[in-house]
Amino acid sequence: MNYTRSSAKYNQTVRLRRIPAPAMNPTTPPDDTPDRPRRQLRSFVRRAGRLTVGQARALDRLGPRYLLDPEATALDLDAAFDREAPRVLEIGFGSGEALLALAGRCPWADFVGVEVHEPGVGHLLMELERAGLDNVRAICRDVVEVLVALAPDTAFDAVNIFFPDPWPKKRHHKRRLIQPPFIERLAGVQPPGALLHFATDWQPYAAHVAEVVDADARYVRIEREKAERDPLAWRPQTRFERRGLRRGHEVSDLYWRRTDVPGAD
Ligand SMILES: C[S@@+](CC[C@H](N)C(=O)[O-])C[C@H]1O[C@@H](n2cnc3c(N)ncnc32)[C@H](O)[C@@H]1O
Repeated sequence: MNYTRSSAKYNQTVRLRRIPAPAMNPTTPPDDTPDRPRRQLRSFVRRAGRLTVGQARALDRLGPRYLLDPEATALDLDAAFDREAPRVLEIGFGSGEALLALAGRCPWADFVGVEVHEPGVGHLLMELERAGLDNVRAICRDVVEVLVALAPDTAFDAVNIFFPDPWPKKRHHKRRLIQPPFIERLAGVQPPGALLHFATDWQPYAAHVAEVVDADARYVRIEREKAERDPLAWRPQTRFERRGLRRGHEVSDLYWRRTDVPGAD
């Protein structure tokens, strides 16, 4: 994919085309009307956005080094990292603040970042090069599809979901990323003992996520003090967190460990 346009050097920004939605969202329950096409319910709205020239160039130049193929039907992370190391998945990394900071603190671990917003991905690539980090790979794709494309033996020692869109209106709650089928998929890529770290500034979403994950026997909630003994449980303050704090919102961090309960898998 060529992200740079010839007019870019005059405009300083590049208008993105609307990206067609892929075929199906596996979290979407089947439409029970047989002859109507399936409605796609996503946890994000993909808007035409603006990619700066720097971001477009970073995607073109650094994409081959850092990006995983967004159209791959099978994603092989062993090949992408070419080493055995603890692995962390960050879902919806925004502009990559937490990903960059954690990857810099933990050079002994490998990080996979998933984000649908192209400018955020471009920004991350520029910062990865600036920081000289080689333990991060990113993919610009709906995480629901990424989870489907991962090799069956993929194992993430930690999964981070920081300040996901809370979809506060009741009629939009079904768009929330964290729902029982999503947690079931996540459990499929986390070995027993692995960490799940969720943060939000929207308390009704914290309550929803607590209910959904607590109800799944494959995860057991752990206290913050206990979780924080794990270096992978650390996170910096993020852009969306700062926005929430400016609005007077309370921030919650919730942690679970993947269990090894016979019969739960
Ligand atoms: C509110 S922002 C939070 C960004 C960042 N984690 C932070 O704390 O600043 C949520 C991000 O999740 C991304 N996102 C939402 N649904 C996603 C999905 N299904 N797959 C990948 N990224 C998604 C959005 O594009 C957005 O950048």
